[in-house]
Amino acid sequence: MICYNEQEKIFHLKTCRTSYIMGVYENTLLHLYWGDALETGCETFAQMLQARGRSFCATDMPDGLSTDTLPMEFPTFGSADLRTPALHVRYADGSRITRLTYDSYRILDGKPALERLPATYAEAGDDVQTLEITLCDTYSGLRVVLSYGVFHTMDAITRSVRVENGGSDSVTLLNVMSACLDFQQLGMEMLHLPGAWARERFPERVPVMRGKMTVDSLRGASSALHNPFAALLEPDTTERHGRVWGMNLVYSGNFTAGAEAEPYGCTRAFIGIHPFDFTWNLAPGESFQSPEAVLVFSANGIGGMSRIFHRLYRTRLCRGAFRDSERYALINNWEATYFNFNSDKIAHIAEKAASVGLDLMVLDDGWFGHRDNDHSSLGDWYVYKKKLPEGLDGLAEKVNNMGMRFGLWFEPEMISEDSDLYRAHPDWCLHVAGRPRTPSRNQLILDLSRKDVCDYIIETISGVLKSAPIAYVKWDMNRNMSEVGSALLPAEQQGEVYHRYMLGLYRCLEAITSAFPQVLFESCSGGGGRFDPGMLYYMPQTWTSDDTDAVERLMIQYGTSICYPYSSMGCHVSAVPNHQVGRVTPIRMRGHVAMPGQLGYELDLNKLTDDEIEEVKQQVKEYKQLGELFHQGDLYRLKNPDEGPVTVLLFVSPDQCKAAFCLYVTKAMANAPHLRIRLDGLDATAQYRDTATGEIYSGSVLMHVGLPCICDADYKSEIRVFEKL
Ligand code: GLA
Repeated sequence: MICYNEQEKIFHLKTCRTSYIMGVYENTLLHLYWGDALETGCETFAQMLQARGRSFCATDMPDGLSTDTLPMEFPTFGSADLRTPALHVRYADGSRITRLTYDSYRILDGKPALERLPATYAEAGDDVQTLEITLCDTYSGLRVVLSYGVFHTMDAITRSVRVENGGSDSVTLLNVMSACLDFQQLGMEMLHLPGAWARERFPERVPVMRGKMTVDSLRGASSALHNPFAALLEPDTTERHGRVWGMNLVYSGNFTAGAEAEPYGCTRAFIGIHPFDFTWNLAPGESFQSPEAVLVFSANGIGGMSRIFHRLYRTRLCRGAFRDSERYALINNWEATYFNFNSDKIAHIAEKAASVGLDLMVLDDGWFGHRDNDHSSLGDWYVYKKKLPEGLDGLAEKVNNMGMRFGLWFEPEMISEDSDLYRAHPDWCLHVAGRPRTPSRNQLILDLSRKDVCDYIIETISGVLKSAPIAYVKWDMNRNMSEVGSALLPAEQQGEVYHRYMLGLYRCLEAITSAFPQVLFESCSGGGGRFDPGMLYYMPQTWTSDDTDAVERLMIQYGTSICYPYSSMGCHVSAVPNHQVGRVTPIRMRGHVAMPGQLGYELDLNKLTDDEIEEVKQQVKEYKQLGELFHQGDLYRLKNPDEGPVTVLLFVSPDQCKAAFCLYVTKAMANAPHLRIRLDGLDATAQYRDTATGEIYSGSVLMHVGLPCICDADYKSEIRVFEKL
């Protein structure tokens, strides 16, 4: 619901449990509040704002006030507000001053799509509205349209910004944040998701220092090192209790997210495209659309925030036939064979996979060009006949005859120097003429800021998908950007390459995924190096990490679940000793850790013992029974792996009729203390049956007394299912 109080000039955006309030004060748009829901229509400026003149501040407002100390909704550079700006523009005369005043607003039902960018969406009948507020810089003719999507039941608010050049000269955008939030409080903490290859998204929580803190990426991808997510919290906020304000950028390229704590009691948070090495030329009449920021407030702790993100992303970010349906339990040959395979080997792996009930055989890297290692052939998307003499269609048919579907790996954004494509088009990669091109994993990056390159990708990948019955695509991207330049853009537009690349990538993804709606797409980037909402808009699941060790995965999946639902995580059971860390864990635990995600196996099942194969059959069966609960249910993280050797997850169906309690013990304790885990999210007044033992519990006993857990063995795991009577 969006209300405008004409008299006070106050906008009140209300979701079922939150309020977001702005007001126009002396023609300037101020941020007044974001938090627990307030009654609409009765707030006044005097109640919402403590406006005081301050010594030594430039006074650009009446009554001795300054935008430097007022909570601004969309601060700009150049006048009195000397804090981090949300907008920085260079005009034709070289000046960089922008002062935005309020112009107008409009309220729309539903939510318009963002031009060329991924975003959350509304469906017919959803209680979603959009508020657009237009601000103007009267001196230059620049207009800024702030958009707010209000998801009432989902409890989320989205923000994005469109900058329009209404003047008569070109301007250069230097910084456009998607959202900026002035909290009228200090002493907050920041939660974010730092990582690296194979240990992505290990949550870190730190006090917001006086000064400025940011997490960011300048790698041309959202990256494994940081995720475009940051939340501010009050220091007493825990998993289950307290206030948390989360921000997540629907974007897969360079970003910054941060907080600036200043001396007058304000903490300014911001998120958007990274301004470093970014410029965007805007000719008269042109506009620039920022990516969308998703804002989620919860007074029910970090877990409450995660559940809101999960529901929104599951249902109003992911799209297509696979959004709501159960997906495929798959087998992938990567860790089983790496590059060393041929058609017979793949068929042998597939046969065993079919016998345990798996749905899909994914052929990973190495099927094209003359690729025997990672030195060649990226870009040459035609079959490597030495390995697959019967072609992709022949192999796919063989797999289909076993009762399984067939899937394929691609790395469409890349080019090997040893490839026909590179020999034909040496200028198609990102590069700067006359300078060396730095390889990473022996490959360069195609210049997706170019239309001809994107057309080539769309055409070639579509051609392969038409050539054989391919039901699944793994879209990989295995390096970050260097020498970011494009052969086609003029000098003054070279600062646009990073963002133009993203627009080109999104165009390719839109074209290919919509032309093949029956194909399930999974994104990947050296494991989980581009796990972000931008990618989830096109592909409903992402390969979470190249680290497949069950113990490490508990932590990686926990961090990922801070923002992203389990339904979006590709999770595989792999061989032991584990290829990344050498750890030996039982097949049971490996299955239990992978099962809440999109389950796959990434090993040669022919090498397992009979007992292990029985266990795998059981796991696949159980997964098919519980998949819906894991993927549509609400997640309660009852114990997190950074608290000690016990991790407990609980998935509760939206109607509270079914729950899965997943327990993992990574280290046994001698003479272990009693441990009880209290469940959450159940119907306290209902009775639940433990489906394995038949024991009946009341919801209130499960939630207030809890279940006993015994930590008496390394790598112990169990999944207990409770059904409402
Ligand atoms: C990346 C992926 C792996 C695998 C390899 C193939 O590292 O994350 O799963 O596909 O590429 O080269």
